[in-house]
Amino acid sequence: MMKKVYIRTFGCQMNVHDSEKMLGVLQKDGYLETDDPRKADLIIFNTCGIRKKPEQKFYSELGKTKLYKKRRPELKVAVAGCIAQHEGRSVFTKAPYVDFIFGPQNIHMLHDMISKKNLTLALEDNPEIAKNDLPVKRADEVKAWVTIMYGCNNFCSYCVVPYTRGRERSRPSENICAETKELAHRGYKEVTLLGQNVNSYRSDINFPELLIKIDRVGGIERIRFVTSHPRDLSDELIYAIAELPRVCEHIHLPLQSGSNNVLRLMNRGYTYEDYIKKVLRLRDKVQGIAITSDIIAGFPGETEDDHLHTVKALKQIEFDGIFSFKFSSRPGTRAAEMGSHLPEEVKSERLQHILEVQEEITERKNRSLEGTTQAILIEGESETDKEKLTGRTRTNKIVNIPKVDPETSSGEKGTLINVEVTKGRKHSLEGRPITK
Ligand code: SAH
Ligand code: SF4
Ligand code: F3S
Repeated sequence: MMKKVYIRTFGCQMNVHDSEKMLGVLQKDGYLETDDPRKADLIIFNTCGIRKKPEQKFYSELGKTKLYKKRRPELKVAVAGCIAQHEGRSVFTKAPYVDFIFGPQNIHMLHDMISKKNLTLALEDNPEIAKNDLPVKRADEVKAWVTIMYGCNNFCSYCVVPYTRGRERSRPSENICAETKELAHRGYKEVTLLGQNVNSYRSDINFPELLIKIDRVGGIERIRFVTSHPRDLSDELIYAIAELPRVCEHIHLPLQSGSNNVLRLMNRGYTYEDYIKKVLRLRDKVQGIAITSDIIAGFPGETEDDHLHTVKALKQIEFDGIFSFKFSSRPGTRAAEMGSHLPEEVKSERLQHILEVQEEITERKNRSLEGTTQAILIEGESETDKEKLTGRTRTNKIVNIPKVDPETSSGEKGTLINVEVTKGRKHSLEGRPITK
């Protein structure tokens, strides 16, 4: 009988895609994926340590496997991802029933780890990571993740990523193009290029040149990328987004704070004024571009005045959407060592304020799209309403539409159709297909 693996993934797209690589590696060893941990021969936790919440969630889920192991001693439990890399051996101390631990740079070691009993830890730096591609078992047939670079060199003072993913390493552009070509050949319609700071991609070519090269591959209808660092956003990139037909009009450009004092403490490398200039340039050059962002509420030392600068920034910029979280102190980072950490209540109040202000803006922006025509790529049934299909605009907004006549082929997963937006809501749009 074939062996079964259950993978539980926490964290960002990078981790989601790493899990696809783990499945790719394990498939070669004859493993099948299962969504029931009680049926698995191998359980892998692909962890995230960006904030305390996902970390706590992971430890509580990990605790459950102790029981599964009691019932089935042959079950193997592995801890992977960012917490594995950061905590290393100490995971064994906390959970002695864990069999092996490997970091994001050591997914290629998975085969050895499951076959060699004495190999339990793989956390070494892997300088070859960008050159040696792994097999991938993808979860979706329409949209695909494509890694363009690994690691991060920025050391923003609050962030664990540079400690968990190692130094920046860019994949050779031929490999990225070959992968994209193969995806197009297999019928994929959209690729999302992944990196912690895609603007510092540098191989034989830079990031805008890479976009030009991928745009020429053909077959792929939409090209997206995450994440862009505001400091490194060049005019060349802005022109690439404006000119290249397949590159979508959306950029995720984390601001983090509207206060220059806080930005400096965060080691972000730009001022609010620098940021605004780039936003104006993007909006001037790229017709209808959507800009989304990340905001951290209650960074150590943030005053009420700093917070109000952030709120003012939200009102001035009018993002299409944001992700905002309370500052979470991460051991080993510089911010963790800073004085003047704020009380939870203050952080919660500020977060609430930020979310309220933004929600109003998002809803207003979504409503302003009512009556417009948008091309959407159908992703499948809506998660909240089985009677509806869901798709995204080029600007990455979710649109739900009634299921279309099954006689006509339009409306199938993976097709591009035109819809009229009938309603703009807080988190999504509603539309109806335009029939000719
Ligand atoms: N490389 C990306 C972001 C990766 S982390 C970039 O630089 O934009 C995603 C988001 O998590 C960050 O933008 C930040 O807003 C948030 N984040 C990271 N560390 C955090 C912490 N310690 N507490 C709260 N939010 C944090
Ligand atoms: Fe973290 Fe900053 Fe790197 Fe983003 S750029 S991953 S926030 S250190
Ligand atoms: Fe991603 Fe979390 Fe690691 S956000 S890079 S999985 S710490």
